[in-house]
Amino acid sequence: MGYSVTTPIFYVNAAPHLGHAYSTIVADVLARHHRQRGDDVFFLTGTDEHGEPVANVAAERGITPQELVDENAPRFQAMGPVVEASNDFFVRTSDPRHKAAVQEILTRVKDNGYVYEGSYEGWYCPKCADFKTESEIAEGNTCPIHGIPLSRESETNWFFRLSAFQEQLEQLYADRPDWVVPQARRNEALAFIKGGLQDVSLSRSAISWGVEVPWDPEHVFYVWWDALLNYVTALRFGREGQDLSESHWPAVHVIGKDILKFHTIYWPALLMAAGLEVPRRVLVGGFLLVDGAKMSKSRGNVLDPFAAIEAYGADAVRFYLLREVGFGQDGSVSLDGLKLRYETELANDLGNLASRSIAMVRRYRDGQASDVAVDPEIAAAFDGLDAQVAALLDDGQISQALEAIWERVRRLNRFVEERAPWALAKAEKNDGADPAALDVVLRTLIEGVRVLGVLLHPWLPTSTGTLLDALGAPVLAWDGARLGAGAAGEVGELAPLFPKDRAAA
Ligand code: MSP
Repeated sequence: MGYSVTTPIFYVNAAPHLGHAYSTIVADVLARHHRQRGDDVFFLTGTDEHGEPVANVAAERGITPQELVDENAPRFQAMGPVVEASNDFFVRTSDPRHKAAVQEILTRVKDNGYVYEGSYEGWYCPKCADFKTESEIAEGNTCPIHGIPLSRESETNWFFRLSAFQEQLEQLYADRPDWVVPQARRNEALAFIKGGLQDVSLSRSAISWGVEVPWDPEHVFYVWWDALLNYVTALRFGREGQDLSESHWPAVHVIGKDILKFHTIYWPALLMAAGLEVPRRVLVGGFLLVDGAKMSKSRGNVLDPFAAIEAYGADAVRFYLLREVGFGQDGSVSLDGLKLRYETELANDLGNLASRSIAMVRRYRDGQASDVAVDPEIAAAFDGLDAQVAALLDDGQISQALEAIWERVRRLNRFVEERAPWALAKAEKNDGADPAALDVVLRTLIEGVRVLGVLLHPWLPTSTGTLLDALGAPVLAWDGARLGAGAAGEVGELAPLFPKDRAAA
């Protein structure tokens, strides 16, 4: 089955920070999980390269906008591999193939009767590239997102008849109550729709850095339409020699809450106008905060993903962000917090569990756990976990899925303490006790750790790979996520998955 997941495409006029990496990591967890389920995954990310800010910075520097974006896009392209994103393609909106597809689709929207020429006057935020409605204007005519004064602007433009989709959008929200998650964001979008939709600009004439309007070359398309359309245009050329438009649309979108209106109101309306299906789902994340304020370049409080990963590794950073900040909520992050979770959860809870389990099988059974049934209590504790994790991920409950797995990490740690395999080994050796008891414990531990490795793969791709290799079971497929599904193989040596000296650095 085709499964598509996307991140927002990033503005190139800033340097990537952990806030950007966050959407990418969330989308990557879903992509990896669906690959495990055997889906034909297309994971898309990229850069949003048009619009005023880019044109302005290029003009200040005396270079062309294209030169500027060619210089900056690679910084976002480089972020992917650093956070271990497994994206299948990286789309750039300055790509001529994207531009041609935008022109074709928006011409179709016009041919379908949803475009007209008109004029508009309103309060405009140049950073959002957005005219604000009454309810979106903050104290003193400022932008609620950027805190800067809005400017009064009027324009004669091509308009998109958003108002024509009022009913259809309300219907969409009624028919599919979990189309936007979490609920609070869905309610926010629905309230905006119910407040009455006004038509919005489709084009702008004041700037020239954008996709030319084919029927009026004095205009370029408003940057948000051009940007949103990446999600469908890239399907045409993102996989060599194939057009994924049929097999891989609709997609699941992962976005931040500041771009909710565009993705949950404008975008489905545009798709309807073009005769295309609306997205499968929109998963809306909150903000990463630093000392209580949104991490952003303009506030100067960004955490550099490259530095954090240099210190603790990509797996740890992925894990930390998704564990610390419940997906959908705002949450504070810091290097101290990362260090703490690295030491307590990754090194102690998971790393120690894996290394002592493997070490005991090597010490007491020469590396070969017997092929006996697993402990019934642990079997019960793991029963249904694979289905639960899959359902939570399908529902956009990324943090809850991770917590469900982590409960079992803790359960296995308790199991080791309860059964004290070292004592069983001693009794075997000194008193000739029946080896069956220790066999069950060791088999349960190895099998439990293997299942955890399969389940945790989307969050911790590198360390779970190392772990599963050491267990002699390097198979990620989802039907191996059940306790007892693994054959008892020979276990090899395992170097510490999360070395303490790394955390001390
Ligand atoms: N170019 C638009 C998106 C177009 S999608 C068709 C854009 N770009 S952005 O680079 O400004 O932001 C990209 C994403 O990063 C947004 O979803 C935004 O919410 C997210 N984040 C930026 N800072 C963030 C945090 N501090 N925390 C979490 N996510 C944040 O918007």
